Amino acid sequence: MSTLNRKISLVKNMLVSRPKGWQSLLYNSSMAQLKIASPLMSPVHVSIEPTNACNARCSVCETGKGDMRRKTGFLDKALYTEFLNKISDTTSTLLFYFMGEPFMHKDSYDMIRFARDKGIYVESCTNGDFVDPEGIIYSDINKLSFQIGGMDQETHEIYRIRSKLDKTIENIEKLVQLRKKYNNSSLEIEVGFIVMRHNEHQVKEFYSWAKNIGVDIANVIDPCARNMMEAYAYLPNDRKYWFYDEEAFNKGFLKPKKINNNECIWIWNSLQLTWNGDAVPCCRDTNGKHVFGNVFETSLNNVFNSEKAVKFRKQILTDQGNIDICKLCSGYGLPQINRTKSAEFTIKRDTLNLDKIPDHEKTISEAPNQK
Ligand SMILES: C[S@@+](CC[C@H](N)C(=O)[O-])C[C@H]1O[C@@H](n2cnc3c(N)ncnc32)[C@H](O)[C@@H]1O
Ligand code: SF4
Ligand code: SF4
Repeated sequence: MSTLNRKISLVKNMLVSRPKGWQSLLYNSSMAQLKIASPLMSPVHVSIEPTNACNARCSVCETGKGDMRRKTGFLDKALYTEFLNKISDTTSTLLFYFMGEPFMHKDSYDMIRFARDKGIYVESCTNGDFVDPEGIIYSDINKLSFQIGGMDQETHEIYRIRSKLDKTIENIEKLVQLRKKYNNSSLEIEVGFIVMRHNEHQVKEFYSWAKNIGVDIANVIDPCARNMMEAYAYLPNDRKYWFYDEEAFNKGFLKPKKINNNECIWIWNSLQLTWNGDAVPCCRDTNGKHVFGNVFETSLNNVFNSEKAVKFRKQILTDQGNIDICKLCSGYGLPQINRTKSAEFTIKRDTLNLDKIPDHEKTISEAPNQK
């Protein structure tokens, strides 16, 4: 199907089924196509960061390598609840992670459940070390992705430093079993394999393992690098896993194979929030260089249409090549609208095992470079 036909069919389907947020998706996407930066309707897609702290030390991730310039902290549950009450009529999807390990926040399960009870589709992503499978079922999250770095501990921890593969696998297996028990859970379980030079020989093994354990999706993730040193260290030998242009690489710099030219429909429809409520354009702004405003201080709509947000979108339309965060990004297209309804089952909250979450203070004090 041609791109135009795909767009027409998407619009037709939306007009017929009218899922939550369809007016906003249609209006904001049209504004992007017309190259108009404002005023926009509230974004249908919101990402929020439960915490930017993590138990692991992945050496490309800003949190993991100690290059997180934002203060480390945890999302305030009361502010989050108040915020969700305000945005639940317009938000279709909530991505419940950004930098850091979402399940280091002891209230993650409750916060996800709160969003689910408001009819929002919720997804998250985890290293799996401290996930409580019962908490996941209780949370009623729609999709959870476990990310691993190898098929044995030695390989896994070359990149996923400090993460314990056997713990992650145990948690995935328990979750698969529990999901069978609560058979009206709508949970989709994904496993992701971050493919790098030291583990590319294990991709086949990863697929057959994933097939056997009963997850829904197995995904081999092309690796990101922030600079050439990291690229030399981690990019696989097999170029099919490369997100980067080989010719540019041979000349000594990183450039994605596909790069947007003065367009990014994603940020006309989505907003990324850090744990303290600051809004940044997207997940590429890991260190919060382009803060549009704060959603705990003013409304989501005000932030999305703030002077800084509009200025940023205008620069996308005219001078994207000079935006630092866009230089290593291919864009994310259109957010999906998922129809969803909340769970009909309940799990007693006191059965959840939250004791295994490590001490937050220890994690915070070890992260350098913070403002
Ligand atoms: C910053 S992590 C936060 C969530 C969680 N802590 C985790 O690692 O799954 C967000 C995503 O980045 C992915 N990631 C981390 N390092 C990566 C790399 N070098 N290349 C590609 N993806 C990477 C993780 O697998 C995860 O999907
Ligand atoms: S587990 Fe996730 S947040 Fe933690 S260091 Fe690795 S990539 Fe970063
Ligand atoms: S970094 Fe990517 S998603 Fe973010 S504004 Fe630039 S092109 Fe869009």
